[in-house]
Amino acid sequence: AVVDTKYKTGYHFQPPEHWINDPNGPMYYNGVYHLFYQYNPKGAVWGNIVWAHSVSTDMINWRAVDPAIYPSKPFDINGCWSGSATILPGNKPVILYTGVDPQNQQVQNIAFPKNLSDPDLREWVKPDYNPIIAPVDGINGSAFRDPTTAWLGPDRRWRLVIGTKRRSRGVAVMYRSKDFIHWVRAKHPLHSAAGTGMWECPDFFPVAMRGVRGVDTSEYNGELKYVFKVSLDLTRYEYYTIGSYRRDLDKYVPDGASVDNGSGLRYDYGNFYASKSFFDAGKKRRILWGWTNESDSRQDDIDKGWAGIQTVPRAVWLDPSGKQLIQWPIEELERLRGRLVSVKNKVLRSGGLVEISGILTSQANVVVSFEVTALVKAERFDPSWSDPQKLCERKGTEAKGGVGPFGLLVLASSGKEEYTSVFFRIFKSPTKYVALMCQDPSRSSVRAGLYKPVYGAFVDVDIKRNGQIALRSLIDHSAVESFGGEGRVCITSRVYPGMAVGSNAHLYAFNYGAEDVRILDLKAWEMKKPLMNGA
Ligand code: FRU
Repeated sequence: AVVDTKYKTGYHFQPPEHWINDPNGPMYYNGVYHLFYQYNPKGAVWGNIVWAHSVSTDMINWRAVDPAIYPSKPFDINGCWSGSATILPGNKPVILYTGVDPQNQQVQNIAFPKNLSDPDLREWVKPDYNPIIAPVDGINGSAFRDPTTAWLGPDRRWRLVIGTKRRSRGVAVMYRSKDFIHWVRAKHPLHSAAGTGMWECPDFFPVAMRGVRGVDTSEYNGELKYVFKVSLDLTRYEYYTIGSYRRDLDKYVPDGASVDNGSGLRYDYGNFYASKSFFDAGKKRRILWGWTNESDSRQDDIDKGWAGIQTVPRAVWLDPSGKQLIQWPIEELERLRGRLVSVKNKVLRSGGLVEISGILTSQANVVVSFEVTALVKAERFDPSWSDPQKLCERKGTEAKGGVGPFGLLVLASSGKEEYTSVFFRIFKSPTKYVALMCQDPSRSSVRAGLYKPVYGAFVDVDIKRNGQIALRSLIDHSAVESFGGEGRVCITSRVYPGMAVGSNAHLYAFNYGAEDVRILDLKAWEMKKPLMNGA
């Protein structure tokens, strides 16, 4: 098939062609990072799913090897769906994944590397005693999937959870095992929540109370908080809470202030789904991968011959407030930085627009810190504005505000017929200032038939402290992955400009608020293309 490369990303993970969805079983083993993912080897739409497999030593340059797991036995003949890897004691990796059987029941299977001395772990063996967990005793076999990485309890028993639902209740059903092969369902789920619908791709892991260090999933010493995440099939968004793991009850309990439903915290307030984290024992950090789907039409995907990317690997850790996570692209990404332009200490007057020129900006990385010099003109924040996305939608990019909108126009055409905006607006409530971050692709393309949702989130920064707020955007042809407030808010969008392509893409900083804003420091780098699975 011919692949149309016009919108192909340069440094976001993807295979040379065809459909991809969820990242699966990411792991670090003997100096090599492995990423598996849901892949259709036959086309650019979902179907024929196998576990495609790539290896890397830096999570930036990738080499494709043969699919690791593909339908071949009754227990996975109708599909090899999502799952996770666990590194067993003695440094032995194992994969648990969901298979779809001849009755279209979802079952859980185990697979082992055939040859541990192959650094690429190319071949995986699926024992005939699979499935190791079947949907019995009232579990709905068409909603029972995506086993997590397992963790070892102080009682030397392994635990894992699988996503399911009971009527409209999302459930993380728990299983325990002494030998990793025989699993017994626990009487109580690890966690569940009313009204959310099916929980896909649950993830459950500890985080340190302080600092950026990651924690191994099985660690239980020291002061730890826990993160529980699910992907909601109903809304196609994910949400997470921070809480405690009550080992006496084997239950996860979200912290009091955490909103435990679809309007709770998100890793990414944009196009991001089915994410999975793993502990990188090499650099002692926790890494998060997420899938970003296309937002053009199915026919566009067929025509271009590919669909789906993974977001850049992000390190995750707990914010010192304990109320949310911080995410930041792994430091290895910076090795791709090429030509640089910078702007220092420049005032953006009300209505101001400055082009950042001198580099190719269709495959770039922009880091900027803004300083809001005065807040007197900040608009009043109406406490009924509880939905940041709606607020971004209503105000758009061009509605003049008091403080902001200020930010970036990326993938812009020279006449501004096209652009995707990433910006802040600062509001004043009786007790504090509220920072809103928006990513608005509604003008991203002159082409018709594209899905262009506006995304938004509140950024938990204290703007009054020094007036500063930072933004980082990873621009990659059809992907815009932005980090506001130093990783407090992430928003990813997919866009398909008709004109702002390649060297016709421009980058601007703007301020459409009444109050002046200063660019303290802006750096924009061209990004080099890593080895990407042979593409
Ligand atoms: C999430 C998901 C998983 C499932 C897989 C199938 O995107 O629906 O629940 O295992 O994709 O490809």
